[in-house]
This record gives sequence, structure tokens and C-alpha cells, in this order.
Amino acid sequence: MERTFVMVKPDGVQRGLVGEIISRFEAKGLKLAAARLELLAEERVVEQYREHLEKPFFPGLKAYIMSGPCFLTVWEGRDAVAVVRRMIGATNPAEAAPGSIRGDFGLDIGRNVIHASDSPASAAREIGIHFGPAELIEYSKIDEPVLYE
Ligand code: RTP
Ligand code: MG
Repeated sequence: MERTFVMVKPDGVQRGLVGEIISRFEAKGLKLAAARLELLAEERVVEQYREHLEKPFFPGLKAYIMSGPCFLTVWEGRDAVAVVRRMIGATNPAEAAPGSIRGDFGLDIGRNVIHASDSPASAAREIGIHFGPAELIEYSKIDEPVLYE
């Protein structure tokens, strides 16, 4: 089983989309391993998006992510990283496929509702930035025997 880091961004929280988004991952069969509502400190935003530090959009991205609380989660399941990336859709919501979260709920690349890790290595790194080991809950979920062959 694989884990991935998923964060509803401040626009998603302000627009009341947390419940809808969590419901999609639950309905897919993914297992929630950790969750927290938080106003992110600058150091954590910089760590999270360090690959974009030199990009022209970085100052705007940092201000956006720090503009209000984010809802931070970790989800677990088979191929969770790739499955969740497909569920969130393309970076630009205007081009994201209908049915994806960005495709259904956004219009602007600078307000794209949600973040998800883009590889297993990124997932491990990002989970470590935001959650301590004791916050990652290991438990059996009652639907597991019918979800997987
Ligand atoms: P994320 O990391 O947030 O899940 O998004 P992503 O992988 O789909 O896209 P990425 O290339 O990692 O970009 C990170 C975030 O930066 C903002 N962005 N703005 N104005 C722009 O040209 C631009 N490009 C990227 C978006 O919020 C994007 O999600
Ligand atoms: Mg990214």
C-alpha cells in the first residue's frame, strides 16, 4: 500500500469544498491516515514547494497558500499517488478534465483548490514535512477485504 499527501488549499477551504473532496477520496476506497486544518507557516510552504522557489509565480503561490487555513491529509491505498493525481486533474483547472476535482471546481491556475504529491518520493518527503510519525494512524478498515482482489 502507498501513501500520498493531499492538501485542500485555502480557496477550497473558503469555498466549503473540504467535505466534497474528502468524500471523493473516501468513495474511491482510499483510507484516511491523517488530517489537520492548519494555517501553514512560511517555512513549511517553502519546504513544500521548494522545487518552485525560483519560478516567477512563487511569491504569488506562497501568498495564496498562506492566505487562509489549508486542510492537510494523508491517504493510503494501492497506487494512491497516481490514483489521486488523476482524481485531482491537470494543474490548470480550465483545462482539467470534467470529473476531476480541479476540472469540476476551478477556473484559474493560481486558485486550483487542491495539492497532491506527484510521485512516491515526493509523497514521503511531503508527509514528513507536515506530519510526525505518531500522527499517521495505522488501522484496519472494514471494507478492505472487498475493495481489493
Ligand atoms: P500542486 O503541486 O499544488 O499539487 O500542483 P501541480 O503539481 O499540479 O503543479 P506544480 O507545477 O507543482 O505547481 C504548483 C502550484 O503552483 C501554482 N502555479 N501557478 N501561475 C502559474 O503559472 C502557476 N503555475 C503553477 C499552482 O497553484 C500549482 O498547483
Ligand atoms: Mg506539484
